[in-house]
Order: sequence, then C-alpha cells, then structure tokens
Amino acid sequence: MDNKLKEAREKINQIDRQMAELFEARLKAVEAVAEYKKEHDLPIYDSVREAEVIKRNSEAVENDVYREYYVNFQKNTMALSKAYQERLIGSVHASAGAVTLCVNLGERSYPITVGQGLIGKANEYFDLDRKVFIVTDSGVPTQYADAVKGACKSATVYTIDEGECSKSLTTLEAVLTAMSDAGLGRGDCVVAVGGGVVGDLAGFAASVYMRGIDFYNVPTTLLSQVDSSIGGKTAVNLGGIKNTVGAFKQPKGVMIDTDTLRTLPERHFRSGLAEAIKMAATSDAELFAMIESMDKDGIRENIEKITVGALKIKKHVVECDEHEGGLRKILNFGHTLGH
Ligand code: GLY
Repeated sequence: MDNKLKEAREKINQIDRQMAELFEARLKAVEAVAEYKKEHDLPIYDSVREAEVIKRNSEAVENDVYREYYVNFQKNTMALSKAYQERLIGSVHASAGAVTLCVNLGERSYPITVGQGLIGKANEYFDLDRKVFIVTDSGVPTQYADAVKGACKSATVYTIDEGECSKSLTTLEAVLTAMSDAGLGRGDCVVAVGGGVVGDLAGFAASVYMRGIDFYNVPTTLLSQVDSSIGGKTAVNLGGIKNTVGAFKQPKGVMIDTDTLRTLPERHFRSGLAEAIKMAATSDAELFAMIESMDKDGIRENIEKITVGALKIKKHVVECDEHEGGLRKILNFGHTLGH
C-alpha cells in the first residue's frame, strides 16, 4: 500500500479512537442530563435549544464546506443522545403527565407527545417562532386550530372541506396558493390540525412547497392518532385511486392531545379503536389482551395507554422499514380492503 494512504489512514484511526473516547464521555454527560430531566419532569426534546446549540457549535468550524457536514454530524449526534435519554428515562417524559416517544430515523427523528390539555401549548413542543400555516377541515371543531394559532406568533388558518374529496390535486393547489399568499418562506412551517385527510394533504403540501418545509402534525381523530399522523406517508388521490400522488415526509413533531377525542363522534372513535386492535393483533398480544379485557368505559378511560401501545408498534415498524420495502406492509393489513 502506498505510504501516503497508510499515513492518512493511521491519522484517521487515531482521530476515531479519540472520538470514541469523546463519544463515551458525551454519553456519560447525557446520563446526568437524563437524570436531572427525570427528577424535574423536563422533556427530552427541546427543538429550540437544539437549533441554538447546532448554530453555536457550527460557528466553531472555520471551513465553510466542512461546516455543512458538521451540521449533519451534530444532528445525528443529538438524535443518538435523545434515543439514549429515552432508553434511560423510559418513554415517560412526564411534563403534565404526558408521554413522549421518539421515532428514531437518524436526522429525520422526531418526538410524538401524547397527553391531555396539550393543544394550547403547541409552542412548547414545536418550533412555532416563525410563520405558521395551519391546515384544518370544516368537520374539526374550530377551537383546536384556534388553540394552536393562539400558541403562535404569526399564523394563518386554512380550512378545507371535510372528507376524502379534499385529498385532491385541486385542493392541494389551493393550499399551496394560500401558503404562497401568506408569504411562507423556506424557514416557515405547516401544522396539520385534524384527521388523516388533513394530515395527508398538509404533509404533502409541506413536502413540495419550496421543495420542502417543516411540517408538524396535531391529529384530532383516534384513527389519525394511532396511525396516519406518524410514519411520514403523505398523499392525495388521483383518478379515484387512493394515495396515488404523494411523498414520504416525516413530520418534525407530532402532538396528540387526547382531550380532542371528547368531541369525536362515536363512529370515528370506534374506527380508530378498530385500527389499534388490528395493530395489536399483528404485533402485541399483551396490548390485544388488555383491550379485550376492557368494557366500553374502561377503553375510554385507558385510551391514552392504548394509543401509546399502538404508537409503539407503529414506531417500531417505521424505524425498521421507513419506505415500506417489507415489514411496513403489516400496517396495511385491512387497509387495502378498507380503501
Ligand atoms: N398507514 C399505514 C402506514 O403508515 O404504513
């Protein structure tokens, strides 16, 4: 082997050894942070602090080209730290009794927070310190989009018609036009407040607007809470066929406020529950037995637990097979016929 190559590789080996030591030291420091957060009921995820830290650390990199790579390196390191904190603390992040799970997808990782009374505090979970475009539909009680709007500095609410007919290229164009009219730029974001139709359409709009801007999801139906709000599938229908035109666009965060189920018609509650039961039947015998053992009231009382159980199944499947090469097909069990 050429001496020059040998020397360069030896240098990299040395640096890697140093980095391994530093990595261990970093995770040790993370343990102390996790312990403090657990003691003080603080969330694992703090997107505002993360953005500040990345900016500050990146400034220390002098070479402009290296800096671009360094930003990714930082994001990946933070995603690993969060995954480790989650492992240490468990899924519970306890702020007001809420539970946070992390979908671990490298730099596309994001938190899902499940709890009660969260919707008016969306700014504590999402970075809303920018222009925010909220998409909702005419069947969703207006109080939910208004609550998210109240947590923003500058927000526009756009209401589409309720129902599958809104998952169309025509509605997509209308949404994109309204986003442009609202002056949304690359650094701004879209928040979906509603069920699966709203999430699929708003997520797809966010994925194509200016080649992709940030997207958050606040699902308000049980079906979207246990399934469509996570995993990044976004789409509209074409020629009467479901989800023909779409993109994988992972949200930056998902907030599930189970209080929204209070206004959900019983039929829709049952529809979402059927999905959770199906998910349990495919992947989690314990969750299935738990649901089976409950009566109607028990299910209502334990809906947060059932939702978290279903989300754990979905998160695992998405982490293993984000783009549906194999395992993710298990989530479609029953969907093809349903569609
Ligand atoms: N709704 C099925 C999936 O997310 O793959």
